[in-house]
Amino acid sequence: MNGIKIRGTGRDVPKKLVTNRDLEKMVDTSDEWITARTGIQTRHHCGEGERISAVTAEAAHRALEDAGVSPEEIGACIVATVTPETLVPSAACTIQRALGLPRDIPCFDLNAACTGFLFALHTMECLLNASPRKFGLVVGAENLSRVINWADRGTCILFGDGAGAAVVECREGWPSVSAVLGCHGNDELLRLPGPEAGEPSYVSMEGTRVFKFAVEAVPWCVDQVLKKTGRTVEDVDFFVFHQANARIIDLAVRKYHIPPEKTYKNIAEYGNTSAASIPLVLSELREQGKIGPGSRVLAVGFGGGLTWGGCLIEFA
Ligand code: COA
Repeated sequence: MNGIKIRGTGRDVPKKLVTNRDLEKMVDTSDEWITARTGIQTRHHCGEGERISAVTAEAAHRALEDAGVSPEEIGACIVATVTPETLVPSAACTIQRALGLPRDIPCFDLNAACTGFLFALHTMECLLNASPRKFGLVVGAENLSRVINWADRGTCILFGDGAGAAVVECREGWPSVSAVLGCHGNDELLRLPGPEAGEPSYVSMEGTRVFKFAVEAVPWCVDQVLKKTGRTVEDVDFFVFHQANARIIDLAVRKYHIPPEKTYKNIAEYGNTSAASIPLVLSELREQGKIGPGSRVLAVGFGGGLTWGGCLIEFA
């Protein structure tokens, strides 16, 4: 099987910025508590008239531009999301129409909560091996502000909206992303019921127990990806972790003695954007010139499901 590399990235977020001070006026919380416990300072929420479908299409459009790939060259489009604007059509079909992607390709949404982008990368690698077109569009997009329970101060401060996208290319002889993916089948710790579930369609989470799961899942994924690829921590140019809580990232960085210049946090600005968080980081790193052609990035995600995953991603 041939592997994939990322050729271009893009991102977009809604204009409305919600600060911790704004939240102090809405719920019993404080800027100090949120900053100390999570590292979050602001998050973007879709405001009046802003639609996540437009934000998602813009991120995908920017990734195509960055990659220098035209819509006709795309062989598949996957959007990782738990909050598509409409269930049908899928967010991926909406992008297909907005960007004029070919008709004879699979476009679909994928739900693996906050690990969705990595599940989608692995799925894309499989799809492109069977496609005559060698480029794929992998997007993570969320409109979590729509499913926030404003009566729950433990979760309402965490989430933000946004979209990140990557154009990947599949070529003979390229290494696989070597995904390690898994799920626990746990329906208690993190829930977002659908419209028919008979309970409000809000996110609920047992934060402390999810935190414990995350601090175990992250090193497990790092170890498994290194083992699968035969690489060491030193071989990796950049470590990208799902941005759920700065403390979870800091623990992993300390455990592996990762030098500060090899990791990155943007949770302060965006909060937890679930499936969008990893591609948002990748896009910022690429824009800042911190990663580029030849870079090797170890990305780790974890979240509801409970799901977890890791990939070693190379840049073309
Ligand atoms: N402002 C002020 N106080 C708050 C608060 C808020 N927004 N939210 C909770 N508190 C209070 C609690 O009521 C509790 O008070 P008490 O001790 O008087 O009962 C105290 O702060 C501690 O609450 P707790 O829930 O134990 O905090 P925590 O340190 O676990 O932090 C999270 C909460 C959500 C930030 C943290 O658990 C977390 O990040 N979990 C993992 C999230 C994650 O990884 N998700 C991944 C998938 S999306």
